Amino acid sequence: MSPKPKKDETKEIEPPAGSALPKGMKIYPIVKYGDPVLEQQTRNVETFDDEMRQLCADMFISMYAAQGVGLAAPQIGVGLRLAVIDTTVGKNPDGKIVIANPDIIAAEGEQREDEGCLSLPGFRGNVPRPLFVTIRAQDAFGNSFEVRGENLLARAFCHEIDHLNGTLFIQHLSLLKRDLIRRRIRKLRKTGEW
Ligand code: NI
Repeated sequence: MSPKPKKDETKEIEPPAGSALPKGMKIYPIVKYGDPVLEQQTRNVETFDDEMRQLCADMFISMYAAQGVGLAAPQIGVGLRLAVIDTTVGKNPDGKIVIANPDIIAAEGEQREDEGCLSLPGFRGNVPRPLFVTIRAQDAFGNSFEVRGENLLARAFCHEIDHLNGTLFIQHLSLLKRDLIRRRIRKLRKTGEW
């Protein structure tokens, strides 16, 4: 998920140069809308090994490079039920959450805010979401946990879990708005800008 853009900050952010990355880390390019991987079901994470933890670390780096607050595995072309979230955008190390095989177990209230997605850069839409969301998931070591989020965190849980079910935020918009976005993306694709 992408946070609200600040003024004059809508242009693409250059990822830090590879040399500045810790050894072995990788910034993945983010898959854009139109790639079928974004609309496919994912398979459960079954192995919680060093390779899986490396993938999580790389997903955080890739998310920060793109200035996002959430990134789901399908967005880097990996069909796993896995996402990373940090609504503090790297400002607080305690804000980092790995969710493997997550399920929403409770939801209350409602919020309406504009929502964006790293796979749909430049597009936003008003999506109703629950104000409080409790999820059950596994961390990068396979330990089960439950966590309750509110506001942006609740929205991020819903948005990222949607990704793991092949659903993008535009599917929550009216048919009219969704078609408008699709038409604009089709145009961008013709001119090679997408
Ligand atoms: Ni997204």
